[in-house]
Amino acid sequence: MRLALAGAGAVGASTLELAGEYGHEVVAIADSSSAAVSEEGLDPETVLDRKRETGSVGEADPEALFAADYDALVEATPTTLGDAEPGFSHVKRALEADRHVVLANKGPVAERYADVRDLEAGSDGEVLFEATVGGAIPALSTITDVGPGRVTAVRGVLNGTANFVLSRMAAEGLGYEHVLAEAQDLGVAEADPSFDVEGTDAALKCVILANVLYDREYTLADAEVAGIEGVPGSALELAAEDGRTVRLVGEVADGEVRVGPRLVPENGTLAVTGTRNIVQLDTEHAGRLNISGRGAGGHETASAVLADVGRLARR
Ligand code: HSE
Repeated sequence: MRLALAGAGAVGASTLELAGEYGHEVVAIADSSSAAVSEEGLDPETVLDRKRETGSVGEADPEALFAADYDALVEATPTTLGDAEPGFSHVKRALEADRHVVLANKGPVAERYADVRDLEAGSDGEVLFEATVGGAIPALSTITDVGPGRVTAVRGVLNGTANFVLSRMAAEGLGYEHVLAEAQDLGVAEADPSFDVEGTDAALKCVILANVLYDREYTLADAEVAGIEGVPGSALELAAEDGRTVRLVGEVADGEVRVGPRLVPENGTLAVTGTRNIVQLDTEHAGRLNISGRGAGGHETASAVLADVGRLARR
């Protein structure tokens, strides 16, 4: 597949770096101020070096991205709330040109799911968004395989940054601010880390799960959300005395979306550590399926992007 890449942050840069290994070619990449486009082959290393040295991917206007000859747009600009711009407009332009879209940006499918589906219905292009939920974990494709109607509930730990903070505070007795700064250094936090610690990022992922599960539009406004900023170290110590700990748990069940800090057994399935995520699917005939793995990070999330590109290529 020939890919046009919108966004050159951790996920966009990793997709550029890894695409060739998966048998695909990035023909154009744009960040917020510039674009690099090539009909003859775009050299990932040159572009990544330029981005590191100058802060931009190239010389051309970002508009040049859509003039390139591409099969699929990879949308990896930062997630925004409300109108989900500029991601939504990028999706619209690609679908109106009958191109496929692979999303790492959660905004378009969390905040404007019905609009995206309407545009897709009028296009020869298809929209896939595995990378928007659980980083490297194949959560959405497993739900699609099992059949959304056969999944009765989904719950999980869906934010690597919050999980890193809670599990390190519990294990090392370190303070909240200190551990959050460590998570930012690791490059797993959102551009705005308040999305991670306030529960917004996990809630957006749950909203996307609800959209797929129930095939109707949910947005962040439909979710009940609490974050981890108010969880004191003393609460983690008290929980530990009782063989329990605290995790930021998201749940989609009975048509409701909820995210908040919950007490979980210290050695239980939900007590994943570090930036790991876990998704639990309760199924109609097969009991509970647990899928856990790396929930954040450039290469990890790019692997989910490129898995979607592979799915499109095989169709
Ligand atoms: N910042 C997110 C996390 C990754 O920490 O899990 C992208 O959704």
